[in-house]
Amino acid sequence: MPEKLEEEYLELVEDILENETFLKLKNYHHHSSSIYEHSLRVSYFSYKVAKTLEMDYHAVARGALLHDFFTYDWRDYKKNKNNKNHGLEHPKTALRNARKHFTVCSKQKDIILKHMWPKVLGVPKYKESVLVTMVDKYCATEEFYEGFNEVVMKKVKIFAQIS
Ligand SMILES: [Fe+2]
Ligand SMILES: [Fe+2]
Repeated sequence: MPEKLEEEYLELVEDILENETFLKLKNYHHHSSSIYEHSLRVSYFSYKVAKTLEMDYHAVARGALLHDFFTYDWRDYKKNKNNKNHGLEHPKTALRNARKHFTVCSKQKDIILKHMWPKVLGVPKYKESVLVTMVDKYCATEEFYEGFNEVVMKKVKIFAQIS
């Protein structure tokens, strides 16, 4: 993630980044960081690609930022056997939360609801939705291995100290 985000990008998503409920995402673990950090990465990278490819970067930046707008720790959620499947349900929760706080156009709605494709049924309707689903998977994989490497390196250091 670059240290300084483009001014134009920040203007597009300013209201979301300042929203009190959205800021709560900083408190919830996701992959190796927080939902806030993960969503910001997915949104910024998707925005950069969308601009280069002359896609609707406005819908991409906002839809991607809101794609995981759920305010709970999914690890706790999964412990309750009465809860529905997190992977299938959280896009719907994210859309509900997004609509509660912001105006969501049909393209943003599709980006949020289909970002788990092909796990969720329904093919993405727009090329912008396809882009975000791909960038989300890329970022999630990268974040997962960052976390994995950290754990491995910790173990290596402990092993080096005792041997
Ligand atoms: Fe997600
Ligand atoms: Fe995500």
